[in-house]
Amino acid sequence: MTTTTVQQTAPLGSTKRIDNWWVAPLLTAGGLILFFGYLTLRAFNATYVWADPYISPTVAPPLFTAVAGYPGSVPVDHAWLGAFPGWWPSFLPQSPAFFIPAAAIAFRFTCYYYRGAYYKSPVLSPPNCTVRGASKGGSYKGETALLIFQNLHRYTLYAALFLLVCLWYEGFAAFFKGGKFGVGVGTLVMCMNAALLTGYTFGCHSWRHLIGGKIDCFSCDAVSRGRHKMWKGSSWLNGKHQLFAWCSLVWVATTDLYIYLVSSGAIRDLNTWD
Ligand code: FES
Repeated sequence: MTTTTVQQTAPLGSTKRIDNWWVAPLLTAGGLILFFGYLTLRAFNATYVWADPYISPTVAPPLFTAVAGYPGSVPVDHAWLGAFPGWWPSFLPQSPAFFIPAAAIAFRFTCYYYRGAYYKSPVLSPPNCTVRGASKGGSYKGETALLIFQNLHRYTLYAALFLLVCLWYEGFAAFFKGGKFGVGVGTLVMCMNAALLTGYTFGCHSWRHLIGGKIDCFSCDAVSRGRHKMWKGSSWLNGKHQLFAWCSLVWVATTDLYIYLVSSGAIRDLNTWD
């Protein structure tokens, strides 16, 4: 009883640990703020997101595109539904990121790995094992109440799978410029982006449950044996989920930055077309 009272009134960060427990949450918070901050800024500023035949993953696939005032925007004939409609609110930037690419944000935000990462680092709840956190002692309710939306992760997975198909399509489309086959650094950067996101998505806990859960026998027929193989592959990726989460996040930002620099003329893309 006495221990509980001391824990609840102890100052934030108090602990009996003698190791550098604060390094991991500090690095994690720095990384999350840096990369999520960069991608959020780019979602609200959809300029230089297109450098034929490359498209930034922050706006792909584009439902609508801006027709004026956005240098380096996606061409109208590449957007699924053409230009932004007249009813689009003028106070909002005309960014394709607000539509299908937003599914990636919902998927990442509710990811089991990222939850642990941002609960522990920017939210400090708790900052690390046996370290006094920001939330009051005894108030832990799990992912209920306001956090119940985290359960949407299994549904955001379907959107992420669709997005993955679109990104692979854009990656393969980047092998063609003006109908001519070729390859550029941007092509490789985009395909690497799709590959890392594939590793991240197929290591997802929800995907692993979808293909390997609710089954009693993994060897009874060809379908269950196939599911077992997929489940084993997903389990391997699942063990590296943190690695793929970070690599894919960094690479999305890298891909966008590369296309920004090529589109704005700051650098030249090495390719077989020019
Ligand atoms: S658990 Fe991380 S993407 Fe599903």
